[in-house]
Amino acid sequence: MTGFDKAWLALREPADLAARNTGLVSELARFLAADEQPHILDIGCGTGSTWRSLSDRVPGSTSWRLVDYDPALLAEAARSIGAGNRVEFRQHDLNDLAGLPLDGVSTVTASALLDLCSERFCDALSERLSVPGCALYAALNYDGVMRWSVDHALDGQVVDLFNRHQRRDKGFGPALGPHATSRMAEQLAARGYLLRIENSPWELDARSAALQTELLKGLRRPLLEMRSLGEQEIDDWLAFRLAALEMESSTCTIGHQDLLGLPA
Ligand SMILES: C[S@@+](CC[C@H](N)C(=O)[O-])C[C@H]1O[C@@H](n2cnc3c(N)ncnc32)[C@H](O)[C@@H]1O
Repeated sequence: MTGFDKAWLALREPADLAARNTGLVSELARFLAADEQPHILDIGCGTGSTWRSLSDRVPGSTSWRLVDYDPALLAEAARSIGAGNRVEFRQHDLNDLAGLPLDGVSTVTASALLDLCSERFCDALSERLSVPGCALYAALNYDGVMRWSVDHALDGQVVDLFNRHQRRDKGFGPALGPHATSRMAEQLAARGYLLRIENSPWELDARSAALQTELLKGLRRPLLEMRSLGEQEIDDWLAFRLAALEMESSTCTIGHQDLLGLPA
């Protein structure tokens, strides 16, 4: 599974739903309620997870525009959300920020997206949003924390290598990875936004064994690409982690942060 694969997105969705900071969602809902015609643009929408998690919690009059560059994910979003829900779907590459369809939009949402983005992209996005004065709700940005209840001597090195791999180009130039939330907050604050940042970690136990397993398997390639640990060391570490999950119900915390920026 890859980071944008529909099976992976489906597997992570319940953990994302449980992790989102509810206080920020309530504050977003209050902001939208003050708008006569609330309209959300969800960028990097994938299969529509943000819509599914927020649509019951924001005013019923809210219209949505869901944007992604992947036609297969957009088609899945349209299939699962259906027509007539005040939702439209648009294919768009976010690297074209000038062409971002912001007409009528008061709030931009993004989930599990900012950590993929570069400093340059985040700076340009904050400028693009601040001109019409759009709010930004950017949830589930990986913050560099990965912890297991059962220790292994290599854990620290593995997390450090993975976090450094997260800084590689994910399609927007060198990615911010764990620094994404703070960079975006700085940029929005400089443009007069009011900001709130809250933690939204995944707390994964035995009930999330399938997600934990895929997460672990997904670490293999980045770890190999960092060329610091040998293939055998990586495979031994993975075998230990998978066995700890199966035999000892090892739990795992993956840190995220949610950010809400409201125009002053
Ligand atoms: C980790 S997924 C998150 C999807 C969804 N927001 C969620 O929470 O399930 C990142 C999403 O960003 C989209 N994406 C990545 N680069 C993009 C780009 N340049 N333009 C538009 N969408 C992009 C991917 O197709 C994918 O749907």
